[in-house]
Amino acid sequence: MADTPQSYDAIVLGAGAAGLMCAAIAGQRGLRVAVLEKAEKPGKKILISGGGRCNFTNIDAGPGNYLSANPHFAKSALARYTPQDFIDLVEKHGIAWHEKTLGQLFCDGSAKQIVQMLLDECPDGFVDVICSADVTAVAKDGDRFGVLANGQVYSAPNLVIATGGPSIPKMGATGFAYELARQFGLKVVEPRPALVPLTLGGEDVLFRELSGVSTPVRARAGKASFDEAALLTHKGLSGPAILQVSSFWRPGEEIGITFVPQAETDWLLDLKRDNPRATVRSALREHLPDRLADALAEKLGIERELGNVPDKALRDAAKKLADWRFSPTGTEGFAKAEVTIGGISTAELSSQTMEARRVPGLYAIGEAVDVTGWLGGYNFQWAWASGVACAQALAT
Ligand code: FDA
Repeated sequence: MADTPQSYDAIVLGAGAAGLMCAAIAGQRGLRVAVLEKAEKPGKKILISGGGRCNFTNIDAGPGNYLSANPHFAKSALARYTPQDFIDLVEKHGIAWHEKTLGQLFCDGSAKQIVQMLLDECPDGFVDVICSADVTAVAKDGDRFGVLANGQVYSAPNLVIATGGPSIPKMGATGFAYELARQFGLKVVEPRPALVPLTLGGEDVLFRELSGVSTPVRARAGKASFDEAALLTHKGLSGPAILQVSSFWRPGEEIGITFVPQAETDWLLDLKRDNPRATVRSALREHLPDRLADALAEKLGIERELGNVPDKALRDAAKKLADWRFSPTGTEGFAKAEVTIGGISTAELSSQTMEARRVPGLYAIGEAVDVTGWLGGYNFQWAWASGVACAQALAT
């Protein structure tokens, strides 16, 4: 490594959501912090999040909204830094916000305000955010870490891995966090794409012809169930309901979709009684976009007026509509995944401090860790909460 190291109390790798929050709080505690960021500017994922308005938290965020090999791991950090704490910060900076739906909070203006807020929270003289930093080596020598970036050595007794996950590689996302973890002997839970569109083939391919059609559904994978919109795409299925269940889906499994989720179990029989001249197609058109209603009616194969259809056939049709099975062929992969499931094993970390049990001074926060939130502001809440838990624990 090069000589004349720059000495800090903590080095944070990655100026994303978790890294910036951690650096800001550590700086406010009086620590000298270097944030080394590979990209030319900080917070790139924050900037594109929530369609440019950043869904920065969810007022209902709690441990039950996260997937992890250890579902208890996130509890401590989430309890100590709550959605209200982040709302207070946003309001302190005069950033206007609104709830869009399902507890999801967005900026009225732009995600840029969140990045600027985090930078403004980093006290001058305590936090150096160094962009375009190409980290080429990391080593531990005694009780200090050395990081080589652009020919400069940065040295500190604390090293925080906050480099996120490999989702959206075209934005520069990599599996760097996992490489570092492995270098220090920490286990990594196999990463896979999550909050990601699913692809369809085989018999389901017909649905791809309905590309662009969106409708509220209940989507299920395993025990998970979400009532949100589904979107049919030229590759398969997307939309919030599908992204949510994609995190629970495993290759080879089916997912279930309830079309017309608000309907009673025997709604087609009820309709037969009330309006025997109606058809399955006309009934579906009352609730679904026409193209989808027509395709489903065709697949059900009941073209006659309801009055001429046996009750059993209508009961079976309603049942099928309530649990339409799809067999996804896969996902659209890390290229389209909003987050990564898996990552640095929580078994390696303290849930109080995010410090590696076996490597004193080494910490991991945010998406790099095997804690993954639902869609809807939960992932940022984890980034903030884990960043704060770590920052409060860093030793001077
Ligand atoms: P994050 O990815 O934010 O930051 C990691 C940083 O490390 C990056 O700046 C990266 O450049 C840097 N880095 C990587 N390798 C490095 C290296 N070798 N050396 C130095 N730096 C390196 N969540 C949510 O709650 N609400 C939302 O609205 C959205 N919207 C959304 C939209 C899209 C399109 C995506 C892809 C994702 C979201 N998310 C989201 C998810 C959210 O963006 C994500 O969970 C957090 O950004 C994770 O924060 P981290 O700080 O852990 O990683």
